Amino acid sequence: YLVFSIKLRKAAPRFPVLISILRGKYDFINRGPLDLIQDGYRTVGDIFRIQLFYRSIVFLIGPQAHRAFFEAKDHQLSQREVYTFTIPVFGKNIVYDASPKIMQQQLKFVNKGLNQMNMKAHVGKIVMEAEEWFDKWPDSGEVDLMKEFSELIILTASRCLLGKEIRENIQTEFAHFYQQLSDGMSHLSFFFPNAPTRAHKKRDLARQEIAKIFSKIIKQRRTEEDVEHDDFLQVLIDARYLDDSLPTDDEITGLLLAALFAGQHTSNITSTWMGLLMIQHQSKWMSKLLDEQKQVMVKYQDELSVDSLGEMNLLHAVMKETLRLYPPLILLMRKVIEPIAYNGYVLSKGDIAVVAPPVAHQISNVFKDPKEFNPERFLGEYAEDQVEKFSFIAFGGGRHSCLGERFAYLQVKTIWSILLRKFDFELCQEHPLPDYSVLVVGPRPPCMVRFKRKINSF
Ligand code: HEM
Repeated sequence: YLVFSIKLRKAAPRFPVLISILRGKYDFINRGPLDLIQDGYRTVGDIFRIQLFYRSIVFLIGPQAHRAFFEAKDHQLSQREVYTFTIPVFGKNIVYDASPKIMQQQLKFVNKGLNQMNMKAHVGKIVMEAEEWFDKWPDSGEVDLMKEFSELIILTASRCLLGKEIRENIQTEFAHFYQQLSDGMSHLSFFFPNAPTRAHKKRDLARQEIAKIFSKIIKQRRTEEDVEHDDFLQVLIDARYLDDSLPTDDEITGLLLAALFAGQHTSNITSTWMGLLMIQHQSKWMSKLLDEQKQVMVKYQDELSVDSLGEMNLLHAVMKETLRLYPPLILLMRKVIEPIAYNGYVLSKGDIAVVAPPVAHQISNVFKDPKEFNPERFLGEYAEDQVEKFSFIAFGGGRHSCLGERFAYLQVKTIWSILLRKFDFELCQEHPLPDYSVLVVGPRPPCMVRFKRKINSF
């Protein structure tokens, strides 16, 4: 009956864009694809299709349409075909290259390492790295927030995820190879992951070298008897598949890289936008934020921990509001493997289904005055994202929602809790535009701010 009723439905209504694109209606450099998607939503509705050569791209916009996307099963909407560009970096038989059964088990390992274990240990390490980093700042000066956070977050990620062996030798070959892996993930790689470019060649060699580095560390750890490690690497070393087999060294390396890539740019970008927005709107929000810091830190005797960070509700709402305005992943995609229906239309086999967080977050009957920076919309009983599921989708939703969400909140809140208590800030440039030339969208560099150390940090 289901198959029959799906067959009766029609394809999503088409939004003809070719002529508008050829006439230069859309400013892709400054607005990315957002205006085009917003136009489609306004003129056609919450489900519409654009035709790109032989392929139909179906956009689903708004909480109800998102539900169809996020609640579909993997055998209906699949990630693996659209995220093939990650395979040369993560590796063979890892996540999107693994069979659905293996992928599910690997994601369970990741979930265990990021959420079920080690949260206390992770926070302790992040606090230590961040305090050490900001203690090195002079008493006053100017910094590029994006550059600072990018360097700091690679240190925290190394300590919590990759292990102390990498963290203690971070300046050496690992950083070099990691950079080459990052350079090998571009828009070109998205469409042609194996195009014979110099960047891709370097990426593939770097992946092999990183595998050797980790293989050595894993072998060493497997021989140690009395040493305990509380990082993500150790969770993977101790993991077992359902048939009791061990993940190979290469699979462990791939899962580490997957977590690193999923978390590094996204957290760095969010910390930067969050700082820029707080400083820009400080006349309205700073004293409230500082009151909250004071109140929580007095209660917890100056200790940043899972518990104290958990009580910084306004800081949490500021981060969430930042992610509403500037979600770093602007398009989430799936390939349709088995037809699904939404609102009388059908998404057919071979279509690409897309949700667009930055467009979804600007729907005015979901988020009041959507252009306004208003963290309070996420506070209290009537928080705007609580009215309907799948309204706020910066971390995705459903079975493949972000596994690092909790880690990201703890990390970014730790950084800003320390900074707000230690320094005063001013902007020294206009608010930057998003940079759509990269896959994970952040502010266009530089992001300069002026800082001054407080005489009495409480
Ligand atoms: C998935 C956003 C931080 C690990 C996702 C997805 C989004 C997202 C939108 C879903 C992708 C999709 O549906 O196709 C973010 C943002 C972050 C962040 C905005 C920071 C502010 C992190 C961190 C980690 C992480 C710190 C790990 C250390 C993952 C993993 C998945 C994922 C493993 C895949 C889950 C699955 O497919 O089941 N993230 N992420 N993320 N994220 Fe994050």
